[in-house]
Amino acid sequence: MTMQGTEAERALTEQVVSRFADTPDARLRTLMQSLVRHLHAYVREVEPTEAEWFAAIRFLTETGQMCDDVVRQEFILLSDTLGVSMLVDAINHRYASGATDTTVFGPFYIDGMPERAYGENMAFTPGTPALVQGRVMTTDGKPVANALLDVWQTADNGMYSGQDTAQPHGNLRGRYRTDAEGRYAIRTIVPVCYPIPTDGPVGRMLNATGRYPWRPAHLHFMITAADHSTLVTHLFNQNDPYLDSDAVFGVKPSLLVDYREHTADDAAAQQFGFEGGFSEARYDFVLERA
Ligand code: BEZ
Ligand code: FE
Repeated sequence: MTMQGTEAERALTEQVVSRFADTPDARLRTLMQSLVRHLHAYVREVEPTEAEWFAAIRFLTETGQMCDDVVRQEFILLSDTLGVSMLVDAINHRYASGATDTTVFGPFYIDGMPERAYGENMAFTPGTPALVQGRVMTTDGKPVANALLDVWQTADNGMYSGQDTAQPHGNLRGRYRTDAEGRYAIRTIVPVCYPIPTDGPVGRMLNATGRYPWRPAHLHFMITAADHSTLVTHLFNQNDPYLDSDAVFGVKPSLLVDYREHTADDAAAQQFGFEGGFSEARYDFVLERA
């Protein structure tokens, strides 16, 4: 912690910290006292003008005002673009267990999307036809039957259904269950790279700091199963040009997949009802025991 500022300024910090000394909940006391110390240290270090501090408050106000109840969560976007979401993720998944790596949840999840059968199509807008399949396993290599895979991705225009109200309800979203052998199969389109929304305060921050809004192509998963920890992750297309510059720092090497091309006469094309060629990615997820 820096020792900048006058004695009176430092005394103010200590006075505010001690005002929280009687917080009954010890964890809340720690959270508040540490927040005050770090926030004061930041202000002491950068010595904002009053106009700058007012601009900061206006930025946070607009961040809140930009949020809605469906798919716009500007505070998640802010946390993600400042790398805080991935730092919280790293702290909470520190111990290697053999489970699949986690990554950001992002602001575009919608609860209650349709349950879909094994291999059912979830793409109702054009794109490169794809099959994503694999298994859900325990850390000791046993299949997890009846796991629920909640899946979402953007359309080829880089927008999620809900965000882009022109897309049909539930487009490129769905909930799939694993069979008795832990298998899942999703018929969809190959994900594309897309920019995170730049029409709000976070976009202005990226623009003013010379940063780019692009995320590498990915498919989102939230996987839940009895007696196991919920897994929130993505599968990234392994040849994407933005893998090294993800706007939200979410890429992990273990989460890359290759979409391999199959021809229309392939047995899998018959099984899953593809009329032409399609691309296939395979991935086995490993869940940690709760
Ligand atoms: C997403 O992948 O949906 C996402 C994640 C973080 C910020 C914006 C979007
Ligand atoms: Fe996404």
